[in-house]
Amino acid sequence: MSQLVRFGISAERGLLAKFDRLIGEKGQTNRSKAFSDLVRRELVKKEWVEGREVAGAIVMTYDHHKRELVNKLMDIQHDFNMVIMSTQHIHLDHDNCLEIVAIKGASPQVQKLADALKAVRGVKHVDIAMSSTGKNL
Ligand code: NI
Repeated sequence: MSQLVRFGISAERGLLAKFDRLIGEKGQTNRSKAFSDLVRRELVKKEWVEGREVAGAIVMTYDHHKRELVNKLMDIQHDFNMVIMSTQHIHLDHDNCLEIVAIKGASPQVQKLADALKAVRGVKHVDIAMSSTGKNL
């Protein structure tokens, strides 16, 4: 665990009140923890924007009855096997499937994978849960 350092921050009174309200709504009372979380969130964003090694998940919903859809999704995932750690498939109902693709690798590759999956006809929704390998946080 890294060493804790105490330091002072100057901020407008109104802004600090908004910060306290914001973290309070999320059930947080510890300003130091909330501030560290904000900084880490920005660091994760930077990792994704700069094309660094990242981790996270692609989450998607699709209708598996659409012609050739499942084969297309499978082909795409094989083409990106270097960034895919595992895939979880959930049968939501008679028609719809939810797939969670755990990823780790260069962020541009992950973005390309998500775009390719999104482009398949029958895929209803794709989103990326952007997280981090944790190495630089
Ligand atoms: Ni299914």
